[in-house]
Formats: sequence, C-alpha cells, structure tokens
Amino acid sequence: KRVAILISGGGSNMVKLVESMTGDHPARAVIVGSNDPHAGGLAKAAAMGVPTFAVDHRAYKGDRAAFEAALIEPILAAQPDILCLAGFMRILTPDFVQRFEGRMLNIHPSLLPKYPGLHTHQRAIEAGDAEAGASVHLVTPELDAGPILGQAVVPVLPDDTPDQLAARVLVQEHRLYPEVLRRFALGDQTPVSLTAA
Ligand code: GRF
Repeated sequence: KRVAILISGGGSNMVKLVESMTGDHPARAVIVGSNDPHAGGLAKAAAMGVPTFAVDHRAYKGDRAAFEAALIEPILAAQPDILCLAGFMRILTPDFVQRFEGRMLNIHPSLLPKYPGLHTHQRAIEAGDAEAGASVHLVTPELDAGPILGQAVVPVLPDDTPDQLAARVLVQEHRLYPEVLRRFALGDQTPVSLTAA
C-alpha cells in the first residue's frame, strides 16, 4: 500500500509512521506534504528518503477551495492508497475529504468523542478527568468525528499541566498510529486499544 502523510509542524507522528513502514510491512510512505513550507517535519521526511512537498495555505488567503486544489495535486500524483493526517492543523472541506473517504486517517489528542477540536489536554484537566489519551479515526466531513480505529489511554495526574499531559499522550500516539496504520493497510479495521506501557 502507498501512504501519503500530511503534517503542519514537527511531524513526530509522521516520523514514527515512516519508520514503521519497513521490512514486510504492507505499506510504504510515498510522499509527505505540509501546509507550511517551514514545517520541521519536511526535513525529517527528506532525511528518511521520502519525497516532500509544501503548499503554503497563507498564499490562498482564506480561499479554502483554491488551497485544496493546489494541495491535492501532488498527493494524487503520488497515487496513494491511504492518506494519513499527522499533526495536520488545517480543516479540510467535505469535497476534499470525500476524495479520500474510507482511506483517510487522522490522529487526535483526546479520547474521542470527548474534546474534538483544540486545547484537548487543557479541557481534560479542567474537567477533572482521570484519564486522557489519543484517538486514530477515519476522517469524515465532520471534524474529529469519524469511526474510531484505535485509542491509547494515559492517566491524568493531579498536578498535570497541559504540556505535561500532552507529552505523556504523545508517547502513546507514537505507539498507536503505527499499529493502527499497519492493521489498516492489511484491511483490518478492528479498533486498537492501547494502555500506557
Ligand atoms: C500531536 O499532539 C498530535 O496529536 C496533534 O498534533 C500534535 C503534534 O503532532 N495532531 P506531530 O508531532 O506534528 O506529529
């Protein structure tokens, strides 16, 4: 299977995904793209030998359709079977999503359906939740709402700051996403459930 990955920043999840696709793994990363030409993850992808591209969303001044028309071109050129969003921070229109629906995954740093959207760790702490985590889901037109393919659970500690909780969750994201992708590439959509090691 050919996998395209979209990032917006450091791309730590992308790195783990690319690193996981070796040996007898059923998938290979064929392209890494970003909405930010300065995303640190682009250099990491290139260093791993994965072709990269960037389409700067700021060049399209809020014209989402024009941005997506530019974004989709290099993705389609790579002929991916699967599209992974990994720390991709732009909301995609239903038109774009429908081009890949059923084969587009995203990782979101909360135990969905709780806390779709932003500031998930702060919200979990403020709610007094005992647990938090990350979810990998199939992307549908509704934000952070598609069928869940895997979750990883971590404890929320009494004096956690959002950054401390985010760091604890990120460790589990890096375990969860590669495992979900491996199974998904094999056609297995049985939800993965990880608890903190
Ligand atoms: C992570 O918390 C991820 O859950 C969210 O973006 C953050 C950074 O991800 N989607 P990465 O390091 O760029 O993969």
